[in-house]
Amino acid sequence: MKKMILLTGAGGRLGSYLREPLSNICSTLISTDIKEDIGKLNENEKYFSADLSNFDQICALTKGVSLICHFGALVDEVPFNDMLGANFIGSYNIWEAARLNNCKRVVYASSIHAVGMYKRIKTLRPKTAHRADGFYGLSKCFTENLARMYYDKCGIEAVCLRIATCSPVTTQRSLTSWLSYDDLVQLVMRAIDTAHTGYSVIYGVSDNDRSNLSNIDSGHIGFKPKDNAEIYANKIFAGDLSEELEDEGNKLHGGAFASTDLGVSAMDKMKIVYSHKGDVPDER
Ligand SMILES: NC(=O)c1ccc[n+]([C@@H]2O[C@H](COP(=O)([O-])OP(=O)(O)OC[C@H]3O[C@@H](n4cnc5c(N)ncnc54)[C@H](O)[C@@H]3O)[C@@H](O)[C@H]2O)c1
Repeated sequence: MKKMILLTGAGGRLGSYLREPLSNICSTLISTDIKEDIGKLNENEKYFSADLSNFDQICALTKGVSLICHFGALVDEVPFNDMLGANFIGSYNIWEAARLNNCKRVVYASSIHAVGMYKRIKTLRPKTAHRADGFYGLSKCFTENLARMYYDKCGIEAVCLRIATCSPVTTQRSLTSWLSYDDLVQLVMRAIDTAHTGYSVIYGVSDNDRSNLSNIDSGHIGFKPKDNAEIYANKIFAGDLSEELEDEGNKLHGGAFASTDLGVSAMDKMKIVYSHKGDVPDER
C-alpha cells in the first residue's frame, strides 16, 4: 500500500512546487501550513491549517503518516524569540510527534545558513561542521542535531537537505548556489525513495559550474542534479553587481545573511523572487 505523507510549509514557495509530485507518489498527501487556505488541492490531497508550535495540532496531523517532508518555517533572519516557535519548538514538535506516531522518516528543509560563515572559496561537504550565520541558520543547526538524536535514540531516519538558493538566479552568488525547482523535486524524491538513508545531510544545489558545495559524502541518496546556473551568467554580469560585491557577506557562503546583524532581515539583499508555482511562465 502506498504511504501517507505529511508536508509542512505547503502554502510556501517550495511547498507549491512539491505538492503535486508528492501527491503522485502517496495514498494521501496531508498538507499543512499556518495559512488559512492554500488554494486548489490535488485529488488525493487534504489541507489542514495548523501552527508548528502547537504540539497537539502537529501530533494529530502525523497519525498514520509514514513520512514527513518538513518545509514549514520562518524563512528570514529575525530576533531569536520570533524564530523560537516555528523553527525550534516546531522542529521538536515534528520529531516528537513522529516518534509517538511511529513515523519512519523526516525529509527536512535545512539550509546553507547552517554553515554560512565559511569562506566561499572553501568547498563545503555534508560532514562540514556547523557555522551558523545567524539565528535562522542556528535553527537549522539545532534541527539537524535534533534529527541526528532522534535517529540515534529512536531510529527515525532523516535526510537534511541543506538547500542553497532555490529561487530564480538574480545575483552573482546564486550562480554558485542555485537549486532549480526541477532539481529540488528530484532531490526530495530521492530522499523519499532511497531504501535506507539513516541520518543523512545533502546539499540542495544544482550542477552549477561555479558551485563549491560537494555531495561527496551523500552519493547513497542518488541525487543527480540536471540544471546549471551558468546559462544565466551573461545576464548576471551585464547587470550592476556593485552592491553585492561591496557586501562583506559576499565572501562567505551565507551571503548577505552572513553580514547582517543578528536578528536583522537580509532578504532584500538576497533578491529572492517570491514566486509560487504557476506565478511565472518558467525560470529558464
Ligand atoms: N527557498 C530557498 O532558497 C530556501 C533555502 C534554504 C532553505 N529553505 C527552507 O525551505 C523551506 C521552505 O522555504 P520557502 O522558500 O518555501 O519559504 P516560504 O516562506 O515560502 O514557506 C515557508 C512556509 O512555512 C509556513 N510557516 C511559517 N511559520 C509557521 C508556523 N508557525 N506554523 C506553520 N507553518 C508556518 C509559512 O506560512 C510558509 O508558507 C523552509 O524551511 C526554508 O528554511 C529554503
